[in-house]
Amino acid sequence: MRRYLRVVVLCLACGFCSLLYAFSQLAVSLEEGAGGGGGKPQAAAASWLAGGGRGAGRGAGSAGAAAHPGPSDRYSLKMQPVERVHLAVVACGERLEETLTMLKSALIFSIKPLQFHIFAEDQLHDSFKGILNSWSFLQTFNYSLYPITFPSENAAEWKKLFKPCASQRLFLPLILKEVDSLLYVDTDILFLRPVDDIWSLLKKFNSTQIAAMAPEHEEPRIGWYNRFARHPYYGKTGVNSGVMLMNMTRMRRKYFKNDMTSVRLRWGDILMPLLKKYKLNITWGDQDLLNIIFFHNPESLFVFPCQWNYRPDHCIYGSNCQEAEEEGIFILHGNRGVYHDDKQPAFRAIYEALRNCSFEDDNIHSLLKPLELELQKTVHTYCGKIYKIFIKQLTKSIQDRYDRPPKER
Ligand SMILES: *[C@@H]1O[C@H](CO)[C@@H](O)[C@H](O)[C@H]1NC(C)=O
Ligand SMILES: *[C@@H]1O[C@H](CO)[C@@H](O)[C@H](O)[C@H]1NC(C)=O
Ligand SMILES: *[C@@H]1O[C@H](CO)[C@@H](O)[C@H](O)[C@H]1NC(C)=O
Ligand SMILES: *[C@@H]1O[C@H](CO)[C@@H](O)[C@H](O)[C@H]1NC(C)=O
Ligand SMILES: *[C@@H]1O[C@H](CO)[C@@H](O)[C@H](O)[C@H]1NC(C)=O
Repeated sequence: MRRYLRVVVLCLACGFCSLLYAFSQLAVSLEEGAGGGGGKPQAAAASWLAGGGRGAGRGAGSAGAAAHPGPSDRYSLKMQPVERVHLAVVACGERLEETLTMLKSALIFSIKPLQFHIFAEDQLHDSFKGILNSWSFLQTFNYSLYPITFPSENAAEWKKLFKPCASQRLFLPLILKEVDSLLYVDTDILFLRPVDDIWSLLKKFNSTQIAAMAPEHEEPRIGWYNRFARHPYYGKTGVNSGVMLMNMTRMRRKYFKNDMTSVRLRWGDILMPLLKKYKLNITWGDQDLLNIIFFHNPESLFVFPCQWNYRPDHCIYGSNCQEAEEEGIFILHGNRGVYHDDKQPAFRAIYEALRNCSFEDDNIHSLLKPLELELQKTVHTYCGKIYKIFIKQLTKSIQDRYDRPPKER
């Protein structure tokens, strides 16, 4: 009898312990759900937009849920949200192929699931849908397609005052209201490393930083802003907005110092007066407005090194991005149209190799062959010399991503 009682007590104790464990798991997953800006980003963004058709979403069983089998699975409490990387781009005119190549480079190397926010002129929507749907077998991304739009209060005024496509990106914090953080890139960007790497810089922001960009120049003697600008700009040489990492929660909350009124203004209220004041003096459009804003609010900017936004300017007149030579080129920015002309063969070759390749592993491995051939032809130019670094970077990224057993990926 005593023994029987003991067994019963033991069983009860065990049951109680597993219950406790289950509840603690539940608490953890609830907490994480509330924290990481999990939510349902696209839903609200779509309702804000007049005719914004949403792209076809697909499920991705994805790493997080499957990664920790164990007791929590038994109690069906495995729904831990995987943090998604939000990537935005604005595509107008002839930029379809370039944009798709950028998205492809993001997919080839990235680890976390990606959420694309693509703002495009209406006539490009069908082409985007066609291609992106054909990539859906990858199951590592979702996309939303939006028309070029502005907040309704002064949409007409913005369209009248400024090229709509160029200023679209300034409004992303107001349009994607439910998205916590976002990486904005120009269409002429190529990722040579996982997007996860730049995304992780968000965690390095101190309490006042809200956005991150790279300097426009490393070398003031050839800098544009310090020689020609007729408006304030950030730091010694200004910043380049082709790769811009944003904590939009903070951007929406902040009151910005400015030179128009003595009161501080919110993001949504500062843009129009700024444009009105400076429209005759700005050359590079929205990038200039960002420079003016961060001139007045320098504590809010996180400046990342040039290797996260590597442009022809860094090698045309000699190599002036030290970090890239030492650690590699992480994100390539082919501005000045260098992917499409013969001025910088190294940039063009990388672009074409990524444009031409498909998503099969073998194909991605053979990506490097045409590049190595091209290398021999271009060593005589400054940018040709750093071409070796492009190839080294790509080789490493491919190894990191594809030369591990499939289980670990
Ligand atoms: C895509 O969206 C669906 C539905 O919203 C979601 O279940 C899935 O996890 C998403 N996939 C990725 C890779 O984000
Ligand atoms: C615009 O540039 C002109 C000429 O350099 C300068 O006099 C003027 O103050 C500038 N306007 C603003 C708003 O800075
Ligand atoms: C962005 O800032 C908000 C408010 O400070 C914070 O809660 C959130 O975790 C930040 N997002 C990221 C990805 O660091
Ligand atoms: C955050 O970093 C920026 C840039 O280094 C700096 O100006 C600012 O004072 C820092 N903020 C805090 C709260 O330390
Ligand atoms: C990419 O394809 C084009 C045409 O199909 C070809 O001319 C070019 O040499 C290829 N480039 C690379 C780097 O693979």
